[in-house]
Amino acid sequence: MHSRKVPGWEFFNDNVDVCDVVRPGGLAALEPDDRAVAEWFVRSLGGRRAVVDIGCGSGFPGLYVAPHVGQLVGVDAAPNMILEVQKNQAELGVGNARFEVGKAESLHCRDGAFDGALLCGVLESMDWDCVARAIVEVRRALAPRGKVAILDQDWSEVMRARPPREATVRLCDGQLLLQLVERESSPGLERDTRHLVDRASPLGTWLSSELGERRGAHLTADGFSIDGDAVLDAWHDEVAQFDLEALTDLVESAGFEEVVVERLPVWGDGVLALTATRPAKPDA
Ligand SMILES: C[S@@+](CC[C@H](N)C(=O)[O-])C[C@H]1O[C@@H](n2cnc3c(N)ncnc32)[C@H](O)[C@@H]1O
Repeated sequence: MHSRKVPGWEFFNDNVDVCDVVRPGGLAALEPDDRAVAEWFVRSLGGRRAVVDIGCGSGFPGLYVAPHVGQLVGVDAAPNMILEVQKNQAELGVGNARFEVGKAESLHCRDGAFDGALLCGVLESMDWDCVARAIVEVRRALAPRGKVAILDQDWSEVMRARPPREATVRLCDGQLLLQLVERESSPGLERDTRHLVDRASPLGTWLSSELGERRGAHLTADGFSIDGDAVLDAWHDEVAQFDLEALTDLVESAGFEEVVVERLPVWGDGVLALTATRPAKPDA
């Protein structure tokens, strides 16, 4: 039910510029929505002794949180992202952070090494099994009373609110890549999402037959009924993105308490902001 066929860290390793958010000039230099996100993380984790930024990308929001905590360790599975964040760190002059290649589902740290963890837009890059393992791993890495702050899309809400206007379908190494583009989330903001589609599924079969022998096709709502209800239903079934309920259940069942979820009015609809605390007893 929760298989999520999304491109993972390998995609980001080859496309570091999709995480191009970091700006010299501190929080004030960020776009308003990005700034609101960074401030939410600062509010959630400010004052902590040691924070791990999992899926740190090019340094957003970790490089903005670092000045408000004792020390920040950023981890990303994509080596090219680590090179990028180190460049940005030097540019911003953030001294109390270090960044290393690593995976969310197997962090290289001792149990309880951190009292804060942040995950921004990273769970959406993992399949559901990996998300579940990452949450358990975060709990292991946190000391008792350690706090995790997660911000991610509620994709089902996004899709309900704004069906995609435009799609590009491509064959990449025999895999069918569906890129959906939304244009109405905020004025001037264009957002796209990419999904690997199982070619044997009904949606995959249908897209493959439309694609035919071409290597790529640009489909618009007018020329191709990509926004039709049937297509969207098929797409929902196919991608089965996680939602608020599923994420909350997962965090609770991993043994966290004080789970608080809010929606931030940024990046269009459907941004979930979740905090949770590891119980005080080490073995709880
Ligand atoms: C959408 S980017 C978000 C980056 C940054 N946190 C931001 O908000 O701009 C997702 C990041 O997660 C990383 N990532 C994906 N799967 C990962 C995994 N299993 N372990 C560690 N990092 C992962 C990707 O390499 C990518 O840098």
